[in-house]
Amino acid sequence: MPVPTREIDRRADELTDKERRRFEERTPKSLALYERAERSMPFGVTSSFQAGDPYPIYLAGGRGSRVTDIDGNSYVDYHNGFGSMVAGHSHPKVRAAIEKAAATGTHFATTTEAAVLLAEEIKRRFGIDKVRFTNSGTESTMDAVRLARAAAGKDVLLKIEGSYHGHHDAVMYSVIPSMDSGGPKERPWTVPFSRGIPVEAASHTQVVPFNDVNALEQTLVEHGERIGAMIMEPIMMNIGIVMPQPGYLAKVRELCTKHDVVLIFDEVKTGVTVAPGGATELFGVQPDLVCLAKSIGGGAPIGAFGGRADIMDEIEHGVAALGTFNGNPLSMGAALATLTEVLTPDAYEYLAQLGTRLASGCQKILDGAGVPAVTTDLGCKGSITFRDRPLERYRDFAEVDDSLFDAYWFWSINRDIYQTPGKEEQWTISVQHSEADIDHSLDVLAGYCDLMAG
Ligand SMILES: Cc1ncc(COP(=O)(O)O)c(C=O)c1O
Repeated sequence: MPVPTREIDRRADELTDKERRRFEERTPKSLALYERAERSMPFGVTSSFQAGDPYPIYLAGGRGSRVTDIDGNSYVDYHNGFGSMVAGHSHPKVRAAIEKAAATGTHFATTTEAAVLLAEEIKRRFGIDKVRFTNSGTESTMDAVRLARAAAGKDVLLKIEGSYHGHHDAVMYSVIPSMDSGGPKERPWTVPFSRGIPVEAASHTQVVPFNDVNALEQTLVEHGERIGAMIMEPIMMNIGIVMPQPGYLAKVRELCTKHDVVLIFDEVKTGVTVAPGGATELFGVQPDLVCLAKSIGGGAPIGAFGGRADIMDEIEHGVAALGTFNGNPLSMGAALATLTEVLTPDAYEYLAQLGTRLASGCQKILDGAGVPAVTTDLGCKGSITFRDRPLERYRDFAEVDDSLFDAYWFWSINRDIYQTPGKEEQWTISVQHSEADIDHSLDVLAGYCDLMAG
């Protein structure tokens, strides 16, 4: 029997207050460093997504499945560098590759053999013809969008409401719009995510809801002659996890082809995680371009995009795709080791086992306690969404229970579980996690659910 919402939220808020005090007792050095860091860095952090409430936890190190903060607390890491560390921390193979690159030259701004080998491996995994390296997910989507517009000869970009594709202007719309600023649900307005983006720029980006074929078709019928590119995460991962409905991606593919729109899959999070060849492989739907970053690098800064030869070859005909640090030897070495020596077929099998142990274990505990939540199992990626049924699109996100999430986060951090500090994220398991790590997490969730059940 589900616990009544108001009662469970009251318990959750009480628990948050208690656990927040305990958190502050456990992390005085993080507080002190925050107070110092604030004086030299906005929010006291190196990216605004690293800010935390009441303050960020500052980490001192990571090894295997665990990280340690500057107060000496050790945690099982499910944050994993916002999903970049499927290799786990300080993996011996990745370290060896970085050490080798460091010994033979850290940067040339020329192409090395490792870059060629890595491009070949990415081609193989994603069924694409050509690859260009970048330094981040943002650079990958930025260059892919420009390339797609040039290839299609049309300037308007279509994106999904509630998706994040990095921090360049073209995609900084309707990322997490407030529910009353978003316009009609089939026709969301284009809402800027940041100040400082020129107002006129919005006319080059249009927004559609996820999992809504009719809304997409209508938009393409009405504006297809101006829309050159569509960028989307094949599985939304900016509001927890939202799975594409059966047949949705195939229909998107069909409509983009019909309206001469270059389809870009942003696989910065899903690529090499949900399957060796990402969501492209998992669903068997081939985009025109795919964007990668995060876990392909085993912890080194890297990005890549690639796709059909006729589109990629536009780079040889006037489309700029540049970068001093593209193909940096440290990143190429780390990524090549990650994709060829760490994320092997056996590793994916192991990750699938751990993922199912965690996700199905969580669901059983939540159901047993009557806590309204659903878990998603995508191998090394997964999530608990505190809503009684899965999300289908961005506007459903308003129904996710903040009180339950906040209480669970503070409860977990005080019991050595390190998670991303926001209900919009998901967990990432690494190849260095153990069954004991997973079982500890299940015990922690069980303790929390006992309290919520009353
Ligand atoms: C789906 C997606 N695309 C692009 C990006 C941007 O990547 P980066 O932070 O490496 O610039 C992110 C970052 O979280 C992302 O989740």
